Amino acid sequence: MSSPLRNDRFLRALRREPVDHTPVWLMRQAGRYLPEYLAVRREAGSFLAMAKNPEIACEVTLQPLRRFELDAAILFSDILTIPDAMGLGLYFVEGEGPKFERPVRSVGDVDRLAVPDMAAELGYVTDAVSLIRRELDGAVPLIGFSGSPWTLACYMVEGGGSKNFSHVKSLALNEPAAMHRLLDVITDSVIAYLSAQRAAGAQALQVFDTWGGVLSPTMYREFSLRYLQRIAAELERGDGDARTPLILFGKGNGAYVEELAATGTEGVGVDWTIDLDEAARRARGRVALQGNLDPATLYGNPDAIRREVGRVLDAYRDGNGGSREGHVFNLGHGMSPDMNPDHVKVLVDAVHELSAR
Ligand code: CP3
Repeated sequence: MSSPLRNDRFLRALRREPVDHTPVWLMRQAGRYLPEYLAVRREAGSFLAMAKNPEIACEVTLQPLRRFELDAAILFSDILTIPDAMGLGLYFVEGEGPKFERPVRSVGDVDRLAVPDMAAELGYVTDAVSLIRRELDGAVPLIGFSGSPWTLACYMVEGGGSKNFSHVKSLALNEPAAMHRLLDVITDSVIAYLSAQRAAGAQALQVFDTWGGVLSPTMYREFSLRYLQRIAAELERGDGDARTPLILFGKGNGAYVEELAATGTEGVGVDWTIDLDEAARRARGRVALQGNLDPATLYGNPDAIRREVGRVLDAYRDGNGGSREGHVFNLGHGMSPDMNPDHVKVLVDAVHELSAR
């Protein structure tokens, strides 16, 4: 099944080994900013129909790699597949984002949840992983992913996106034991899900803690970090060069880089609100760092994009004792549908050009 990997920059950077150029991939690199994605979506009918069909998921995973010299592919799927498999009934309303038909609102709702059967409920995801590995044929590594327990709990309890997280924060404040039972069953599911993706061929795994940053530091440590620690400790990842690296990404996690680096993860992904030199000093060489260009930089012109790419590359080097080792270039969060694909090419090429040895 596995051809030798022709571009291992991304995996080498996660091991903090020297690379010829800093590797780059972009969160949400597949999606609505690409006309070829919109064409496939028109055929398929909806995002969920795309994500649940392994051939289509494979096709849209590969689309950005045909345009740009990206150093990794990321599985086309969504973090909300786990709650969907738990029976919450995921659907999307145009312009409003994800929603659940049956949100988790009471202690009784929490106690009815169970870890989904991976093969029966999420086989479409692992089928997509195997197919993408076969189609990539060793061109670049494939990243599998999951939402973090806290971030999944936010969607499950709110029933969709939220501005103030009133329901999930109330549950955490009023029923902390039930909140911890909820986070435990999600964590067990995340570990099983990431393990299944790894078994199907994922060569790195990323956890998206999109909403950890909405918590106070005390609540972050209790309701988000604790479960990220459990994932990093319990997820089977193998040894040596065969080890499947883990990246913990979080929006608003700049204050917790030391604590995240101490979990045993291989990589920490940060957003754009912390200077990467400061993040690198806090990481003290214990982990690789991923990030952290402001996604809105893509609205700038090519000169501005090159300038900002150079600034991020140099900030990492300055905070990392003068070396570029251990940096995976990325945005600080995902791309938006109104971004210009030509600007993405400028960004990707600038990373390789400006970081060349
Ligand atoms: O990075 C990639 O290219 C891989 C694919 C990917 C998607 N979602 C595809 C997608 C990944 C890694 C995700 C993760 C995800 N999904 C997160 C965590 C990362 C982050 O952005 O913070 C979250 C919070 C979600 C939940 C979710 N799914 C939202 C908020 C939306 C957008 C809804 C909207 O209408 O804007 C989705 C849908 C979604 N997931 C799309 C894509 C390409 C848009 C689908 C479409 O309308 O075509």
